[in-house]
Amino acid sequence: MSHSPILVIGASGKVGRRVVAKLTDMNRPTRPAGRRTALPFDWQDRSNWADHFSGVDTAYVAYYPDLASPQSADDIAALVAAARSAGLRRMALLSGRGESGAIRAENVLRDSGLGYTILRSAFFNQNFSEGLMHQGVMDGLLALPAGTRAEPFVDLDDIAEVAAAALVDDRHHNKVYEMTGPRLLTFADAMFEIDAATGRELAYAPISLDQFQAAMEAAIGPDDAHLYTELFRELFDGRNESITNGVQEALGRPPRDFADYCVGAAKAGAWRLAA
Ligand SMILES: NC(=O)c1ccc[n+]([C@@H]2O[C@H](COP(=O)([O-])OP(=O)(O)OC[C@H]3O[C@@H](n4cnc5c(N)ncnc54)[C@H](OP(=O)(O)O)[C@@H]3O)[C@@H](O)[C@H]2O)c1
Repeated sequence: MSHSPILVIGASGKVGRRVVAKLTDMNRPTRPAGRRTALPFDWQDRSNWADHFSGVDTAYVAYYPDLASPQSADDIAALVAAARSAGLRRMALLSGRGESGAIRAENVLRDSGLGYTILRSAFFNQNFSEGLMHQGVMDGLLALPAGTRAEPFVDLDDIAEVAAAALVDDRHHNKVYEMTGPRLLTFADAMFEIDAATGRELAYAPISLDQFQAAMEAAIGPDDAHLYTELFRELFDGRNESITNGVQEALGRPPRDFADYCVGAAKAGAWRLAA
């Protein structure tokens, strides 16, 4: 078994920092990479990508801003080429669940000849406490263009544990793990469960894609607003209203329930209002 450092691209992200923590717990050395690491990694600058793979056998990759972006497949192709020329053996790629851009990027890796593990993930639980939906929860009203669609939210600790296992254990070689949580919940259900854990009064308001895009433009600018609107158009067209067994398949145990996540995040102060 190799003990060369494991490259973690996106190491400061919600998933990446948990992957680094899990690998560290397993006494495996990591090489975190991002725009502020000693050797910076930037998706906008390919000039030093090959350097990151020097002396590395396996790598975790989280794309930014989202694998659903139109340019992701081209970037992943360039990254994979740099990795192959440096002798990388396997890449674990964090992916979405069936968005066309994500599938294109996954296929680039799967067809590359590099060993791979695809970490196909449902909507993260932690989007409510650390991501895009946190502000809505803090405001007491989450407005999204998801109608009454149900989503099997998945926990980042499960995804990170599968990622860490994939990076150290050849059993996960050339596998696609489609990971969801154990239950389908609408966003109204999710707010109700956070409500139960926090004792706050929370609500969900379904809005149109146009309303969502207008609100996002004010918050994050037109380009990212367009990206997320198109992403939500695909995500909530019904394709993901099902549960899969990727966590069980990879780890031999069931995924964490959304209610447990709510209790843990509430205890950790994720939704505490300023006094
Ligand atoms: N949210 C979901 O529900 C969901 C579901 C399935 C899949 N995904 C996938 O998750 C991925 C995002 O992972 P995450 O949630 O762990 O990340 P995150 O918490 O959104 O953090 C963003 C990461 O990207 C890095 N970053 C930002 N701009 C960069 C740039 N120009 N070059 C290099 N790195 C850059 C940041 O690192 P520095 O600031 O340190 O550079 C940080 O590590 C996306 O590819 C998305 O497709 C998300």
